[in-house]
Amino acid sequence: MKNPKNILITGGGSGIGRALAVAYSKSGVNLFLCGRNLEKLQVTKTLCEELKANVYLEILDVCDEAATKNWIEKIEENFALDLVIANAGISAGTSEGLEATTQVQKIFATNLNGVLNVIHPAIEKMKNRKKGQIGIVSSLAGFRGLPSSPAYSASKSAVRVYAEGLRGNLGKLGIEVNAICPGYVKTSMTDVNEFPMPFIMEAQKCAKIIKNGLEKNKSRIAFPFPLYFVVWLSTLLSTKITDPIFARLPGKKSLVE
Ligand SMILES: NC(=O)c1ccc[n+]([C@@H]2O[C@H](COP(=O)([O-])OP(=O)(O)OC[C@H]3O[C@@H](n4cnc5c(N)ncnc54)[C@H](OP(=O)(O)O)[C@@H]3O)[C@@H](O)[C@H]2O)c1
Repeated sequence: MKNPKNILITGGGSGIGRALAVAYSKSGVNLFLCGRNLEKLQVTKTLCEELKANVYLEILDVCDEAATKNWIEKIEENFALDLVIANAGISAGTSEGLEATTQVQKIFATNLNGVLNVIHPAIEKMKNRKKGQIGIVSSLAGFRGLPSSPAYSASKSAVRVYAEGLRGNLGKLGIEVNAICPGYVKTSMTDVNEFPMPFIMEAQKCAKIIKNGLEKNKSRIAFPFPLYFVVWLSTLLSTKITDPIFARLPGKKSLVE
């Protein structure tokens, strides 16, 4: 969608969410941002207000279904959301060991249920006016189960596939749905990684690519191309070839560390 006016972004207090909020900021734009940390959100608000956007902050855990629904319904009393970007997410891996059940549950609660909690109340509103756009932040890590982060890659795969299915389902109602699949982006999420991250890019560049893809209503906004190509190729090759390669990838830190 070109020139959305009322935009909701979850996880707007840092990284990709903040960069997206800044990228969309201009006079006449209303930004609705949530996160659990008010200080981080306030930094984003200041940056966006300098660009003349109106910014409304909400301290919210997207895992809380009722609170998330309530936030969206409250916004919709005065504003018709044009664009909702379900961006909030967490990441963790195995640290070369096993992934704790609690970590797996937390990752799915945030990266899968947290996305559903946001997009479903928004879709309910958008379908009545037959207009709107939903961007779901997945990852290039969501194309193949990664031994270094099984739950993270599975959660990102789930939301990507859900976005692709929803796109066909909701397109006839005038709602655009897009799966956003970045590679490595320099944010607090990747700052903790102690392994090489090929083609890592700044959050500002990532936001520009996402905004451009959303404007063009691309089904899948996957980038950077070289890494996307490698990941895509790996899904075509026999697991006899790819399993030993992926098993050698370094472990991402687990949440308890
Ligand atoms: N960085 C990468 O390389 C990369 C690559 C592909 C995909 N992604 C995806 O991009 C999205 C943004 O990540 P990022 O890289 O920008 O990392 P980030 O800087 O850590 O941002 C994640 C944001 O999500 C918010 N968040 C986390 N859990 C939340 C919850 N339960 N409720 C509400 N907000 C929550 C955090 O805010 P609070 O802590 O204040 O709640 C934070 O602002 C994630 O979905 C991530 O999986 C990142």
